[in-house]
Amino acid sequence: MGGQSYQDIFFQKGNDLFISPFSICILITRDPHSHSFFTFFSHSNTASQHIKMSTTETQTSQQAARNRLATLTAHLLPSTASSASATTLHPLHLSAPVGTFPPANLKGTLTVVDERTGKKYQIEVTPEGTVKANDFKKISTGKNDKGLKLYDPGYLNTAPVRSTISYIDGDEGILRYRGYPIEELAEKSTFMEVSYLIMYGNLPSERQLAEWEFAISQHSAVPQGVLDIIQSMPHDAHPMGMLVNAMSALSIFHPDANPALRGLDIYDSKQVRDKQIARIIGKITTIAAAINLRMAGRPPVLPSNKLSYTENFLYMLDSLGNRSYKPNPRLTRALDIIFILHAEHEMNCSTSTVRHLASSGVDVYTAIAGAVGALYGPLHGGANEAVLKMLSEIGTVENIPGFIEGVKARKRKLSGFGHRVYKNYDPRAKVLRKLTEEVFSIVGRDPLIEVAVALEKIALSDEYFIKRKLYPNVDFYSGLIYRAMGFPPEYFTVLFAIPRMAGYLAHWRESLDDPDTKIMRPQQVYVGEWLRHYTPVQERTVSSNTDKLGQLAISNASKRRLAGSGV
Ligand SMILES: CC(C)(COP(=O)(O)OP(=O)(O)OC[C@H]1O[C@@H](n2cnc3c(N)ncnc32)[C@H](O)[C@@H]1OP(=O)(O)O)[C@@H](O)C(=O)NCCC(=O)NCCS
Repeated sequence: MGGQSYQDIFFQKGNDLFISPFSICILITRDPHSHSFFTFFSHSNTASQHIKMSTTETQTSQQAARNRLATLTAHLLPSTASSASATTLHPLHLSAPVGTFPPANLKGTLTVVDERTGKKYQIEVTPEGTVKANDFKKISTGKNDKGLKLYDPGYLNTAPVRSTISYIDGDEGILRYRGYPIEELAEKSTFMEVSYLIMYGNLPSERQLAEWEFAISQHSAVPQGVLDIIQSMPHDAHPMGMLVNAMSALSIFHPDANPALRGLDIYDSKQVRDKQIARIIGKITTIAAAINLRMAGRPPVLPSNKLSYTENFLYMLDSLGNRSYKPNPRLTRALDIIFILHAEHEMNCSTSTVRHLASSGVDVYTAIAGAVGALYGPLHGGANEAVLKMLSEIGTVENIPGFIEGVKARKRKLSGFGHRVYKNYDPRAKVLRKLTEEVFSIVGRDPLIEVAVALEKIALSDEYFIKRKLYPNVDFYSGLIYRAMGFPPEYFTVLFAIPRMAGYLAHWRESLDDPDTKIMRPQQVYVGEWLRHYTPVQERTVSSNTDKLGQLAISNASKRRLAGSGV
């Protein structure tokens, strides 16, 4: 289509598609699922031409659009007209816990007495209260002992980095980005400001913010090849699987930023780093929208540089070819707040993945593709979906006591409760709890909120949960908001991934400047066979309790092929 965008050539009215004047267009599309074929040639220079949307692909996309609307209306009670017509959210009135003072200087010395040998060791304690794991290596019994190792599955008490990006105090329920309480940022800031803060350490000046927004919007277009890859994926593929692939494809389309091609030192250049940051934050919404549209059988929509970051994301999802479409400002603000809440959370599973991969010197796109893979896991980014299923299963407030008894009898877990770090109310959950009401006042009330609120109340007053310090986490209310906004559950984690790019990239940047950065290479504790000698295959005996290749399931297609003959 030359320099023209899809929307420049086509526009939609009702269920029909029109072609703009002065457009030359050859369009051949094929939907691998419907097997429909649609070829169209037009040279229109007089008036808009009307194209009957006769392909199965177009029918699918229209049906999907209707389905999105149906999802919204099916499970929501009508909104209150008065608040729905307002253009700004009500103040959230959030207060952040004050917390404790910063730790004093903890510098000192640890004296370790090895009872095995009677030897005494002095281990240095840093002002931050850490010891170097490597210092324990010198504690050895002598022969055949390479020194003490720290065994820490799941890194429960291992800090491989020092960071200035975010701070969590799980006991107090505190989350701060660069020192700013999350509650203040959610109430007063925007995702664009917060992503700048996370990246560069300070809130931007007016001019810095304008330059940041401009740079990101300038880099929001996605290479056609990446969009083609998204389009070529099955419409029913998991959107996080698509996102992993799209991020990895960005690596291929940006050889200029690849240390494997251009040398390990390319990221020493601030310009090169900043460009990758603007590219990734700029492109992630376009890619995420293209994935959502692909799920509905629709083609990607080009970003608009006239809209704010979050507005543009909603525009790409919902404009349906209408270039003048404007998303609801209150829904935009609600989603922007959700983006702020999910932007950064220190060394969780996926962020540590970015640092791990980047430590090998691999390009930033591949490092982030790996992180998105980690985020995809149900133990990390996917719990909000489980909460929704649980609430639907409980159904009504009367069923809660029976459900809680089942949890206490360890028949199941209360999804959206408990956290490895927070032993208090997750501060993000508090904000989300307030936001649910705002979102419901725009799109209608989800009856499941009554179940969620009552469930929280009953759980928080029950001895089982009090004793174990189990409180609602970020996933308890976010799923309800996403559902109310018409997103399918499998897409929820993509909405988490969009803002988390800021956190990933800030950690990538920090790791590049950290003189302590080394290729990440944990140790293991070898507990296998010590030494064996090779025996010829005829002399080997197989014991019945050794591990071996099991029976692979044979597919029906293989059975059919095996039943045939090659003659
Ligand atoms: C998040 C989570 C994995 C943290 O796990 P963890 O830090 O390893 O904590 P543990 O699994 O050791 O839990 C400690 C105790 O609380 C119980 N517990 C933890 N979360 C629970 C939950 N959601 N429902 C019921 N019991 C729970 C455990 O059974 C354990 O009890 P015990 O000491 O009697 O054996 C865990 O709380 C959980 O599975 N929550 C539900 C899933 C969820 O919402 N995940 C999203 C996290 S953001």
